Amino acid sequence: MTGAADSAAAQEFWDTFYRAGDRIWTGRPNAVLVREVVDLTPGRALDLGCGEGADAIWLAQRGWRVTAADISRIALDRAAGNAAAAGVGDRIDWQRHDLAVSFPVGVFDLVSAHFLHSQLDLPRDRILRSAAAAVAPSGVLLVVGHAGHPSWEHHPDQAVPFPAPEEVLTALDLPAGRWELLRNEVHEHSFTGPDGQPATRTDNTLKLRRLAG
Ligand SMILES: C[S@@+](CC[C@H](N)C(=O)[O-])C[C@H]1O[C@@H](n2cnc3c(N)ncnc32)[C@H](O)[C@@H]1O
Repeated sequence: MTGAADSAAAQEFWDTFYRAGDRIWTGRPNAVLVREVVDLTPGRALDLGCGEGADAIWLAQRGWRVTAADISRIALDRAAGNAAAAGVGDRIDWQRHDLAVSFPVGVFDLVSAHFLHSQLDLPRDRILRSAAAAVAPSGVLLVVGHAGHPSWEHHPDQAVPFPAPEEVLTALDLPAGRWELLRNEVHEHSFTGPDGQPATRTDNTLKLRRLAG
């Protein structure tokens, strides 16, 4: 999806998704982000597909300077409001990008992509290669994605690609000897589904450090 009409359609799709409610996500940072980043020294962070901003806000509260990008203006405006309410509005630069078309400028000590999935055509591999290219020496790339549909969806009608960590690693096409693999993990988590019943979903985590020098 690269044409202007396709990009406008993708923005409209995600704006419509976020208009469906005043708050779509929980407002809490992703648990894997917290686990994997809590021990890192704060610096410059980039959050790709930031949605309503919970991860970016948590990072800013921990002392990171954050650039947060999403295709949806509705999500970004909501995220900026949440950040202001949390007192960290001045630490986050919210940028609207269709990442299929443009990418935030800069180098970052942490580049995080959590659940950057779409029912629409999304050049995720190319975006994640740009993400890797934006990691500073000694910086970390954290890619967390779903490994499949949630347990209540027995007959999903949308063909969303859910690559395994090895597939993401292969697609990143990283130069040999320049990166250290810190985490390559598939994990199931339990939560309450939309019908109030116990549900599970399997996610995967890839965490890499660009070697210094
Ligand atoms: C499943 S949500 C995840 C949101 C957030 N990272 C989280 O973990 O809660 C996917 C996000 O990716 C964004 N997105 C989808 N396609 C995109 C694109 N082409 N460029 C930028 N953002 C996109 C959506 O607007 C949405 O906020």
